[in-house]
Amino acid sequence: MAVSYKDLGLVNTREMFKKAMEGGYAIPAYNFNNMEQLQAIIQACVETKSPVILQVSSGARKYANQTLLRYMAEGAVKMAAEMGYPIPIALHLDHGDTYELCVSCIESGFSSVMIDGSHLPYEENVALTKKVVEYAHKYDVSVEGELGVLAGIEDEVSAEKSSYTRPEEVEDFVKKTGVDSLAISIGTSHGAAKFKPEQCTRTADGVLIPPPLRFDILEEIEKRIPGFPIVLHGSSSVPVDAVKIINSHGGKLKDAVGIPEDQLRKAASMSVCKINIDSDGRLWFTAAIRELFDEKPAEFDPRKYLGPARSKLVEMYKHKNINVLGSAGKA
Ligand code: G3H
Ligand code: 13P
Ligand code: ZN
Repeated sequence: MAVSYKDLGLVNTREMFKKAMEGGYAIPAYNFNNMEQLQAIIQACVETKSPVILQVSSGARKYANQTLLRYMAEGAVKMAAEMGYPIPIALHLDHGDTYELCVSCIESGFSSVMIDGSHLPYEENVALTKKVVEYAHKYDVSVEGELGVLAGIEDEVSAEKSSYTRPEEVEDFVKKTGVDSLAISIGTSHGAAKFKPEQCTRTADGVLIPPPLRFDILEEIEKRIPGFPIVLHGSSSVPVDAVKIINSHGGKLKDAVGIPEDQLRKAASMSVCKINIDSDGRLWFTAAIRELFDEKPAEFDPRKYLGPARSKLVEMYKHKNINVLGSAGKA
């Protein structure tokens, strides 16, 4: 039976984005697949009084079970309220690839969906996105579309080469589709290895500095659709410390380079209202578990290794909200 996100205590993204645009900050969109990640996101966002978008990919939905997910989201709303500060929480489908998937998510309590037609020819992207918007808006669910292709390979997202968003297309796309927000490609990419070392400059201590984001393209887009909420995918910073811990405890992460935090801060102060972060959580979670197993090889109680990993995530999400996205105190 269909359930409305409103009955679960969730909100769509419209009000969040309006306030973020006016306030010069971005709403965190954190991906989750399991209970510990969700607990960490809620704890960090309540403690920093930040609105949040809980983001679920189709792979995550399969992994967690769609029925369980609905109750997890409802539980997250209740957990925040019990902690004494009921922050606005949206449940969002990340990289939805079909109309049917978007409908299924809306029927199971999602308050926002992304329809990612970025790999399609322009007119097909318009048609698919418009169809999703027409359905979603009947239920007051917000829709994110995408123009331009991000590089990076993950379960459900895969592209060898990026192509920047063409500013000349955005106005027509937004007008024809009726989307509530637009994901763009200005140099971010998915995963932990966002750039090849030869694309980066290297500091004296060996840290790779990636090429800057294309703020000129963002500015051009802003001129064409002023005040329209923009979304940045692929926005993990790939912290050097997490990568070092992983690699010094048996891991083998090669060429891990992310988006510098100051670049994200700048984007958040512009028209970027939603910043997607998944890989950084994966990295810190893995780092904490690897370290613990190395130090306590006899440990076999999952709470003893997932608990510290969860604490590390809380710390990381709080840092992002306070120092990078600027969403702390905005709930
Ligand atoms: O952008 C994609 C997200 O990081 C989700 O990744 O499809 O492996 O769950 P996933
Ligand atoms: P990262 O891989 O940089 O965390 O990006 C996540 C993302 O864009 C989810 O849609
Ligand atoms: Zn993405």
